[in-house]
This record gives sequence, C-alpha cells and structure tokens, in this order.
Amino acid sequence: MKKFFIYLTIITPLLFICPTINCQDKNNFIRPGQVWPDNEGKHINAHGGGILFYNGTYYWFGEYRLLRSEKDKSRYGVSCYSSKDLLKWKNEGLALRVISDSATLLQPGCIIERPKVIYNKKTGKFVMWFHHELKGQDYKAALTGVAVSDNITGPYKYIHSLRPNAGVWPQNYPDEYKKAKEGDASLRTGSAEWKTAVIEGLLVRRDLAGGQMARDMTLFVDKNGKAYHIHSSEENMTLHFSELTDDYLDFTGKYFRVLPGGSNEAPAIFFNKGKYFMFTSGTTGWNPNPARLSVSGKLTGDWKLIGNPCRGTEDENKITFGSQSTFILNIQGKKSAFIFMGDKWNPDNLSDSRHIWLPVEWEKGNPVIRWYRNWDLRKLQ
Ligand code: GAL
Repeated sequence: MKKFFIYLTIITPLLFICPTINCQDKNNFIRPGQVWPDNEGKHINAHGGGILFYNGTYYWFGEYRLLRSEKDKSRYGVSCYSSKDLLKWKNEGLALRVISDSATLLQPGCIIERPKVIYNKKTGKFVMWFHHELKGQDYKAALTGVAVSDNITGPYKYIHSLRPNAGVWPQNYPDEYKKAKEGDASLRTGSAEWKTAVIEGLLVRRDLAGGQMARDMTLFVDKNGKAYHIHSSEENMTLHFSELTDDYLDFTGKYFRVLPGGSNEAPAIFFNKGKYFMFTSGTTGWNPNPARLSVSGKLTGDWKLIGNPCRGTEDENKITFGSQSTFILNIQGKKSAFIFMGDKWNPDNLSDSRHIWLPVEWEKGNPVIRWYRNWDLRKLQ
C-alpha cells in the first residue's frame, strides 16, 4: 500500500514532467567534444580553424587531417564547410590543397595549420593565411602562407610563404633593444637569463634580416577595415600583431610585440563593448594547458593578462576543458553573443580531434567559459 502511495505521489508526476523536458528541441544543441557529423555523416575535419560569415552563410575553414585509411598525401590541405544555423554543416571539400610538385613549398608532406579566411571588401577577394611548415623540417621553418580566391569555398590559389617583417623593427620597441649585447651568444636557451634577453629583443635581432618567426596564428579585421596577422613569434615566446596591406595579401612592415616573453599560442581575438579580448594557451604542444585571457582598449596597445577564463573544477581549468583555443565566433545579428571554439587534439589521429564549442559568458565585464555537456544555441541572446 505504501509503495503504491509513493508511486502515485512521486513517480506519476515525474512521468508527466520528464517527457516534457525530453521534448525540448535537442536539434539546436551543441555537443562539445563529441563526434560532429557533417552532411555526409563524417566527423567535421576542420581543425585549428575559424569561421567567416558571408552572404547569410557561415563558412568554417580548418586543417583537413588525413584519415588513417588515407594514404594519398595529395588530399591534404584546408577544408571548408558551410552552414546556415551553425549546427548542420555541409562539406564543401578542400578550399586549398597541397600541390604535387616538388618545386613548390606547398608540396605533400608539408604542414598546414590554423588557417583563417577574411574577405576584402575593396578587392572582392577572399584571403587565406595559414601557419606553414616545410616538408621534412618539422616545425623549424615557422612560415606563414597566403592564398587567394574569388569564391569563398575556393579553390584558393597559393601565392607564397614567408617570415613576416624582414628588415624592420617592431613599432613598440625601444632603441636600446636594437643593439646586440655582450654574452648574447652564450645564453642557454630556456634559462632565466635567456628569457630576459628574449624580452629585450634577442630573437627579434636574430631574425631581423630574414623575417620574424610565425607559428600559431589568427587574423583579425578591425572596425576600420585594417587587418592584422597575429602570430606566435620569437620561438613562441612573444606574439606579433602585424598589419596587413589594404588588399590583405602582404605585410605593411608595421608590427607590434604583445606580451613579450609570455609564451602564448593559439590566439583568438574578439571585440565587445569597447574592449579587445584575446584567448591564448600556453606552449605544451598537443597537450592542453590553462587558457589565458588578455584585454586591451586598443588592438595594438598594451595588452593585460587577466588570468584563466575557465570556470570549471580545478582539474577542468588546468586543461581548458581538454581544449586549446582557435577562434571566437560572433553570432550574426547578435552583437554581444560569442562562441569559444577550441580543439581537443588527438595527436594519434588528428582527424578525430574533437571540437569544443562553448558559449562565452560574462563576469564583471570579462568573458568566461563553463563546461556544458550539451547546450542550446538559443542560449546565446
Ligand atoms: C600546438 C599548436 C598546434 C600545433 C601543435 C604541434 O602548440 O597550437 O597548432 O602546432 O602545437 O605540436
């Protein structure tokens, strides 16, 4: 009798409530870290990527990583997916692919990472930049590559790869950092003295003639249409914000050092309510580490490191929920709604690396991220 009473008073109402909860339209849900099938049912193969909104559609560009079954290295390059709702993605194929010719730097066997595409209103062209490492040289070359297309989905025409800003000093660089110091050559890489010397321009001087190193990168178009190539330079110790020419195809030679000696990678920048925000990671390769948030009133101004934007358990915060930042996406038509996009790398099978998309939330005017096993896109108002 007692059991029947419990059933009647507790279980029965639950049976009514639960279906209502389950009836929520789960089609709008983002599921961070899970397999994300495209229109062909295959996990979206666009890693370290970014998104460009154009003509009512979102275009997601990222690293196409060869599947284990794929032996043909000529299929390697930058993938493109399109979507109207950020949930269902259509595979648009390779926007840029390696060129089967040993005379080009973009030959099979090279590494292409963190591609980003921006649209140039003046020329009507789509411009792609990407971190480029050369065949057989691991991560030594530290180049950035550029390609251009009349169509957003490509094919992009490869122009060249280079180290930016050869022969020019950064804008925010004291004169005393221009002269080599006695003992520079004998400093042990990674030692405290070496780090101080790096802050004081050791590597800017070393790379002045040939151009500055460019590894993890992103692009950012400022309100006035000026675009910047933002990359980890100086052996990943310092970020460089390099201004692009009006056609976005080259560097003007005007560049700024940001957070010297801070060892920042994976930069992702956005602007909200008068401030620029930047998510970065530390430098631990494919392994996740604590995210960092920096803020500045001016894009090329004095960036201040605020701290870790993750609001999870201590263990989750230490690894940014298992991810590394790649892009902050502004939802179209919603000025202050943003999605943090990160990669949960699987170095044993990079094509299976997972996408960690989380809503950007706000705390005292600063962006923070929390873990959601799944979340409703409509959450972002
Ligand atoms: C990470 C970087 C990735 C990739 C990786 C290689 O630090 O963010 O894009 O370059 O190192 O180990």
